[in-house]
Amino acid sequence: MCGIVGYIGQHDTKETLLNGLEKLEYRGYDSAGIAMLNEDGMHLFKAKGRIAALRNRVDNAVHATMGIGHTRWATHGVPSEDNAHPHQSASGRFTLVHNGVVENYQDLKKAYLHDVNFASETDTEVIVHLVEKLFKKYQDTVKAFRQAVSLLKGSYAIGMIDSENPDTLYVAKNKSPLLVGLGNDFNVIASDAMATLDVTDQYLEIFDQEIVLLNRNFVDIQNLDGTAVERSAYTAQMDASDIEKGTYPHFMLKEIDEQPFVMRRIIQEYKNANNELKLDMNIRKAMKATDRIYIIACGTSYHAGLVGKQFIEKLANIPVEVHVASEFSYNMPLLSEKPLFVFLSQSGETADSRSVLVNIKKKGYPALTVTNVPGSTLSREADHTLHLYAGPEIAVASTKAYTAQIAVLAILAVDTAQAKGFELDFDPLQELAIVANAMEVLTDQKEAIEALASDYLATTRNAFFIGRGADYYVCLEGALKLKEISYIQAEGFAGGELKHGTIALIEEGTPVIALATQANVNYAIRSNVQEVAARGANTMIFSSKGLELDTDAFVLPHVHELLAPLVSVVPLQILAYYAALDRGCDVDKPRNLAKSVTVE
Ligand code: F6R
Repeated sequence: MCGIVGYIGQHDTKETLLNGLEKLEYRGYDSAGIAMLNEDGMHLFKAKGRIAALRNRVDNAVHATMGIGHTRWATHGVPSEDNAHPHQSASGRFTLVHNGVVENYQDLKKAYLHDVNFASETDTEVIVHLVEKLFKKYQDTVKAFRQAVSLLKGSYAIGMIDSENPDTLYVAKNKSPLLVGLGNDFNVIASDAMATLDVTDQYLEIFDQEIVLLNRNFVDIQNLDGTAVERSAYTAQMDASDIEKGTYPHFMLKEIDEQPFVMRRIIQEYKNANNELKLDMNIRKAMKATDRIYIIACGTSYHAGLVGKQFIEKLANIPVEVHVASEFSYNMPLLSEKPLFVFLSQSGETADSRSVLVNIKKKGYPALTVTNVPGSTLSREADHTLHLYAGPEIAVASTKAYTAQIAVLAILAVDTAQAKGFELDFDPLQELAIVANAMEVLTDQKEAIEALASDYLATTRNAFFIGRGADYYVCLEGALKLKEISYIQAEGFAGGELKHGTIALIEEGTPVIALATQANVNYAIRSNVQEVAARGANTMIFSSKGLELDTDAFVLPHVHELLAPLVSVVPLQILAYYAALDRGCDVDKPRNLAKSVTVE
């Protein structure tokens, strides 16, 4: 959450900062700001709202060769211009942007800054005042910066300018993501390579508790104790077109449509020349060695984990527990003798998941991260990584990463089953190819689903999704998609559980969307639909071909029953998209949310 860009060099600072912030808006979009230093001094521009608002504020006559920018997702203090970054020290000499949470900011205020007047309600402002305080003591910016950073507890990615020193950009990182991008006669910093991909594809990772001093043609990485660190650059494997909307009105729609391609890419990446599954031997060994898997994830990834559990238990015969990351540390279950932790995370940066990873690594347990971003924190810090190959997911509401997670977990389950010598009547590569075609059939039928959205969801206050077995897990995801982008209060329920309380909420016209893709519960879920229809619900059934009745709203193409979640979720994503659009919501950037949740 929150995005940072910084630039030092000879090109147009302003455009690099603003373009970069636009690419980082997915990380937060409630306010933004940039600071640029030139021979006339520091130029600071801030605006509440989106980068577009900031662009309108920026004085185009200002040209500079160094600057920092920030797009915010508020943690401490409301979204406002005062709370927007960059923040400045009392004298105005130091200017700083920060992503993360300074957990001990109240203590630092009391201990060092009781005589300082704060201009904002943020935790960030503490850092910049602290630098100035320590500068007064040491008369040395690097020393003051290093000392200030050493006092911080929590997470931070920081870019700082000292107006008296126009040749250096000061950078620090702990837990929050930050990269250095290398150019010809310039260098940049960014929370994500996609922010600066149009100026460079060469990047240097920064590790936790390192500080970096940048000038336009030199990068000096140091540990907090001042020891120099050598690191080679890598080429960012990202195509600039992956992060453009192209002809689509929204990234979410583009990403829904990309799902068949993602399935085919996963098939390609996980097969060898003989069309057999190809997986890292070490992952195979770890899967074979474990007696219980603990899947740790949040939100949509958690929902994908629930589906994945079924594959691993049914195909590979290993018990699986799926846990919400933010609860795991307090509600840690009794662990088995040989646990394997599997972290599911699109971004690979989610703080709640990372905190569990840090904990279990301290205890010496093995960890596998399944992520869309192989160089991400969760990927680096786990023993093994499985890549999702979904391509950058920009819309805040996750779609293609969810289906990619389920597909990769299916492959993992089958690979493990084969490694254990089980005979399976299930070829995941073949079945995923059928899924890809089925997804295409569905994405070609958007108009029919759009009509359902406008009939059922245009004016409703709430909606329910019901299903049994795997369908229940998809219902949780369908409800999350609908609520996060359309703000309709939506809940996913196990069909049989509704009558134990929640059915009290069913009124005349309440939309109830049911999934019927599992043969063994087809009659049972239809009885649940009858129960709510009898109480006035406006029901809509999505069934699989072969299980359908004439009265069903929509019939999904037939795929292997285990993989039905990959198909049944697609119309629910499309339904949510059109419901949000009908209501005039900002589909790609829903209120209060951000992608990549890097605060606990
Ligand atoms: C919802 C959504 C979130 C994320 C969750 C975990 O559409 O995107 O619920 O799934 O914040 O994020 P990752 O997968 O990056 O760990």
